[in-house]
Amino acid sequence: MPKTTISVIKADIGSFPGHSRTHPKILEKAAKILKEEEGKLLIDSFVTHCGDDLELIMTHTRGEDNPEIHGLAWKVFTEGAAMAKEMKLYGAGQDILSDAFSGNVKGMGPGVAEMEFEERASDPVLVFMADKTEPGAWNYFLYRIFADPMTNPGLVIDPNMHEGFIFEVHDVVDKRKIRFRTPEESYSLLAYIGAPSRYVVKGVWRKDGLVAASTSTQRLNMLAGRYVGKDDPVMVVRAQSGLPSVGEVIDPFATPVIVAGWMRGSHHGPLMPVGLCDANCTRFDGPPRVICLGFQVSNGKLIGPADMFDDVAFDRVRSKVNEIADIMRAHGPFEPHRLSLEEMEYTTLPGVEKQLKDRWQPLD
Ligand code: 13P
Ligand code: 13P
Ligand code: MG
Ligand code: MG
Repeated sequence: MPKTTISVIKADIGSFPGHSRTHPKILEKAAKILKEEEGKLLIDSFVTHCGDDLELIMTHTRGEDNPEIHGLAWKVFTEGAAMAKEMKLYGAGQDILSDAFSGNVKGMGPGVAEMEFEERASDPVLVFMADKTEPGAWNYFLYRIFADPMTNPGLVIDPNMHEGFIFEVHDVVDKRKIRFRTPEESYSLLAYIGAPSRYVVKGVWRKDGLVAASTSTQRLNMLAGRYVGKDDPVMVVRAQSGLPSVGEVIDPFATPVIVAGWMRGSHHGPLMPVGLCDANCTRFDGPPRVICLGFQVSNGKLIGPADMFDDVAFDRVRSKVNEIADIMRAHGPFEPHRLSLEEMEYTTLPGVEKQLKDRWQPLD
């Protein structure tokens, strides 16, 4: 049996109204294009959206960074963007930063999380997709899932997880990477990933090399050199049988965690786990949202999805998120609701500063 690859590739190619949600016609078109490739390039596919981000979940046997798979995603995004332009949707073509596709969507605008693995006897896979936040938003959750025994008792009581995990961290500013072993280097890991705007967990492996998690890490606003929206991220996590159980993977999302993003990509706000029916951004273009679809992968087929946050067990965190959203909103344009000055460098604030630069007088 060849190895299975799961590729989750996403882009915001236009939405309605404003940055709220993708259009059903585009979702339909995307699903159709991928369906036509099943049995050819793809084994299976599932198309959905989180807020204004179009999410393509694809399985195949071509490995990560495959030009044909990336080319297929690019075709979906460019055809979808053309439809978005015709309907004059908001931000039509937002994440298509170049017309010249050269075999890989990385650095072109879309976000990518991919994972190639040998299927186990049974392989549960969870796909997380967020809107109005940034890739570093996964850091907190990945730490709790794979390194925190208070979240994941499997680290203590499952002999296959007892040795811990390896985290690969990317510095998205200086473009470098490093690996940390947990539990022995947990504090060093936290020294970096506690600053999620710069240090982003790219992947997690068990110490015997088994791949456990993969995320999308690019920073679109840095690629573009001007504000073009946040890089609303995706993540793939495998579960059970020597990995965290499905329940251990999703439990940390019951904590209301504050992330960067929300209105104009310039505000901190709480991340709300929601079912697909609530994956639409409204209040202050948010609050930031995350959905989770669960599948069993069977010879590359996606058995599912299960809409994991569509459940009363997550009602309490949603209610807490709404309370925190009130508190954050009460700050108006003040920090810490608004991002720090350093982070605002990548928004539209520098334009305002430019307008005012000649009005400043030196202090005596
Ligand atoms: P089951 O005994 O229901 O398979 O559960 C085991 C487990 O891993 C629970 O998270
Ligand atoms: P997106 O990054 O989801 O397009 O949102 C941009 C924005 O400005 C929201 O207010
Ligand atoms: Mg948008
Ligand atoms: Mg978005």
